[in-house]
Amino acid sequence: MMTKHKILFQDARKIKELEDHSVDLMITSPPYPMIEMWDEMFSEQNPKIKEALNNKDGKTAFELMNQELDKVWDEVYRVLKPNGIACINIGDATRTVNGDFKLYPNSSRIVSYCNKIGFSSLPKILWKKTTNAPNKFMGSGMMPPGAYVTLEHEYILIFRKGGKREFKKSDEKINRRESSFFWEERNVWFSDIWEGLNGVLQKLKDEKIRDRSAAYPFELAYRLVNMFSVKGDVVLDPFFGTGTTMLAAMASARNSIGVEIDPNFENTILGRIEAIKEYSNKINSDRIKKHLEFVKKREEEKGPLKYTNEHYGFKVMTRQEKSLLFNDLKKVEKISDNEFKVIYSEEPQKEIPANNSPTTNIFEHPKIEKSAGKFATMKLSNFVN
Ligand SMILES: C[S@@+](CC[C@H](N)C(=O)[O-])C[C@H]1O[C@@H](n2cnc3c(N)ncnc32)[C@H](O)[C@@H]1O
Repeated sequence: MMTKHKILFQDARKIKELEDHSVDLMITSPPYPMIEMWDEMFSEQNPKIKEALNNKDGKTAFELMNQELDKVWDEVYRVLKPNGIACINIGDATRTVNGDFKLYPNSSRIVSYCNKIGFSSLPKILWKKTTNAPNKFMGSGMMPPGAYVTLEHEYILIFRKGGKREFKKSDEKINRRESSFFWEERNVWFSDIWEGLNGVLQKLKDEKIRDRSAAYPFELAYRLVNMFSVKGDVVLDPFFGTGTTMLAAMASARNSIGVEIDPNFENTILGRIEAIKEYSNKINSDRIKKHLEFVKKREEEKGPLKYTNEHYGFKVMTRQEKSLLFNDLKKVEKISDNEFKVIYSEEPQKEIPANNSPTTNIFEHPKIEKSAGKFATMKLSNFVN
């Protein structure tokens, strides 16, 4: 099995390289309108935004910034296949302009535009963020009524272009079954509140991009890729940043395309791709390990499970998980500038880690996180603590 990955350093408001109906899933996080760190970038894309901000006209600035994003949502709609899914991570903004404090509701603005151009909304996810130092005292502190509620969450808006996707041919059905996830993972991933997401693969060392990256956690992209696509699909991220979506696609045996306007991200993206093989294989192994812990506990509490996974021989909760298969990465190759090929193993992992120790967050790997650029060597057989 092989997947391909391409990075286009260009403006996503017009993606000429991509044909209509060529993408299965879009996952992204745009620059957030009315969050100050993005003022300059929005103003470069439309100078009227700078004018509105200088005139202290928050309402116009908010609308114009969103209009620049609208152009990308139009492109996403065009390139998505019928039945394709789009996931947009976005936060609302609070800001005082001209002495007037208010909420700029990016999420509802995007929902209303995407519905207007033909998308159907699916239930969204509220991502509750771990806030380091929330400004609990916005407004009038302890005195009513002028204190403000703190924003401690963002959204993952989910849209579909048309109706439910169908899998009719027998090879499509097999691939879909091999792309399934565990029952116990489903219960967490498909909850509409996500908390405690972790795992930014590599700390950003490059000063030029640190301020601008606003990278989302690897686990966020990884869940969405696995929830809304099957192996071999094409995943697009039009606001690519440090390339988290591509890493998640590589780790999940999906193809991917990233579009990023700022070429300064190149080195960071390439550094992260270098690390993905070990990181990804560790995730596969840890998911299995965590599943074995789940089975042990479940069987102790409720008796033997009914189904067996045909590749690994371990127990699973439902018939749908019988063919579930993780593909380890064998090789990541550069094909040309900003284009990569990933080759996967077709065989199930031979050594299943012993389930003798509790797993915490499988996406947190201190060795990898702390050694940006110099990644620890880990073998499958080392995962027994
Ligand atoms: C919130 S960041 C994305 C972070 C990304 N999810 C990650 O994990 O690193 C938004 C990115 O969109 C890029 N961007 C802004 N406007 C763009 C446009 N019109 N076309 C392509 N990229 C754009 C910015 O340079 C920035 O890297």
